[in-house]
Amino acid sequence: MTATTAAGPGSSTPPTSEPLLRADNLVAGYVPGVNILNGCDLEVHRGELVGIIGPNGAGKSTLLKALFGLVNVRSGSVVLDGQDITNHRADSLVRRGVGFVPQNNNVFPSLTIEENLQMGLFQAPKRYAERFAFIVDLFPILGDRRKQRAGSLSGGERQMVAMARALMMEPSVLLLDEPSAGLSPVRQDETFIRTRRINKAGVSIVIVEQNARRALQICDRGYVLDQGRNAYTAPGRELMNDPKVIELYLGTLAADQETADRAKLA
Ligand SMILES: Nc1ncnc2c1ncn2[C@@H]1O[C@H](COP(=O)(O)OP(=O)(O)O)[C@@H](O)[C@H]1O
Ligand SMILES: [Mg+2]
Repeated sequence: MTATTAAGPGSSTPPTSEPLLRADNLVAGYVPGVNILNGCDLEVHRGELVGIIGPNGAGKSTLLKALFGLVNVRSGSVVLDGQDITNHRADSLVRRGVGFVPQNNNVFPSLTIEENLQMGLFQAPKRYAERFAFIVDLFPILGDRRKQRAGSLSGGERQMVAMARALMMEPSVLLLDEPSAGLSPVRQDETFIRTRRINKAGVSIVIVEQNARRALQICDRGYVLDQGRNAYTAPGRELMNDPKVIELYLGTLAADQETADRAKLA
């Protein structure tokens, strides 16, 4: 790990066991010769809820896509449970226990909730009853409304379906890209509560968030990404209270968030 620990040595000592997911020195990009990730590190321990915050364009979505085999990793490595998964294809990663919920277009609007959940399990359809029971236990409303088309749901409900779909394959780690984006403050709050509940059910989570303060409140650890590099990493609450992080990131991120919230309420 080369990340700077802003809060000082020892303050963010992770558990000693080998991380469940580990990215080392990732360099990745879309266009030849242009790197978006410039040596990015990430560790997720079993049971952890890890947040990634940072300014727009920092490479947060690109990092999730690089972990999930959707953008080519040019150098560096991604290791899941001791096995190298760098540049493995998304479908093979799903089989190995990685779930990904992209920020947009993450449900099939013309399909019912139930059909959306079946799509999440197309690689293991025999497990449907068992996994559906798990999902309904977490989110009872999805059971009640199983025949309703996803396209007729509210933004917050659609986000719930998207998470549930990714949970069908029983991932050990779930990657969430800005699940609260575009939602009203109340719905955002529900999304964070839901994320925490999934985590408590035993799923390790990496959550990218624009709502930095709220995300850091629920996270065990947080990373600040800036220009494709780790700028800071520490336990969520320490990051939130770190004067440098506040000055450089949370101030502007909070202002962006307030503007977005006001626009939604207007
Ligand atoms: N599909 C793409 N093709 C080319 N460039 C992209 C693509 N997606 C994102 N980028 C560029 O990568 C940079 C980081 O984007 P992104 O990872 O989406 O940032 P964040 O999620 O932190 O806002 C931006 O400069 C963006 O323009
Ligand atoms: Mg993004």
